Amino acid sequence: TLLDSRPKPLAGKTIVMTSGPTHEPIDPVRYIANRSSGKQGHAIAAALARLGATVHLVSGPVTIADPEGVSVTHVESARDMRDAVERLLPADAAVMVAAVADWRTANEAGEKIKKQPGAAAPALQMVENPDILAGVGHSKQRPRLVVGFAAETQDLLANARKKLDKKGADWIVANDVSHTTGVMGGDRNAVRIVTRSGVEEWPDMSKEEVAERLAARIAAALQTIEV
Ligand code: CTP
Ligand code: CA
Repeated sequence: TLLDSRPKPLAGKTIVMTSGPTHEPIDPVRYIANRSSGKQGHAIAAALARLGATVHLVSGPVTIADPEGVSVTHVESARDMRDAVERLLPADAAVMVAAVADWRTANEAGEKIKKQPGAAAPALQMVENPDILAGVGHSKQRPRLVVGFAAETQDLLANARKKLDKKGADWIVANDVSHTTGVMGGDRNAVRIVTRSGVEEWPDMSKEEVAERLAARIAAALQTIEV
């Protein structure tokens, strides 16, 4: 707002982001999706914008409003999300928060699949979707800072470390989404920032607070020569 006179350490910086789930069509009326409210990703986009960044957010289908001060491209499928992200490069940083569907149907039906009396349930054939974060992390136009997320139900740190390398990311924000934590769809989150130099454990806090703190950490990293 006009009254916001806080310093703008990310002024002049461009950040590309993903948030929300993707929807992979089965037929014109059905889809496969991941659970994601978009709350955490959208909050990060807004927090980066408040620090002065030009934020380009590619959002899958969510019910929450577009974050304030952010330019949003709305997409449905992982392939559309990937295409939109590629069009938004180059950027100073990428923050990929979307819960991208790992697979899509290989045989999307052009017409609604009808029940046939006595017939077996239709079988879905699946093929793997592009890995958007890995594409950015290994791109010729790789941003200086590439941040991914990892929602895990077990072996949190080991899995997050593997993702750092596999995806060419600088940081993985890891969170435990086993059913007892209530992270999915909720307003709170307890994350760990996994980097090549170690693991930073953040206490349980609101998704807004995680967003503020991550945005500040991104601003600090982009102000140094090395990230
Ligand atoms: N990601 C992505 N494109 C995909 C899959 C994941 O950009 N097709 C990104 C997510 O946005 C997140 C990170 O990669 O920032 C980790 O996602 P996750 O689902 O935890 O990793 P996967 O490699 O898909 O591994 P798995 O689901 O098997 O744990
Ligand atoms: Ca996945």
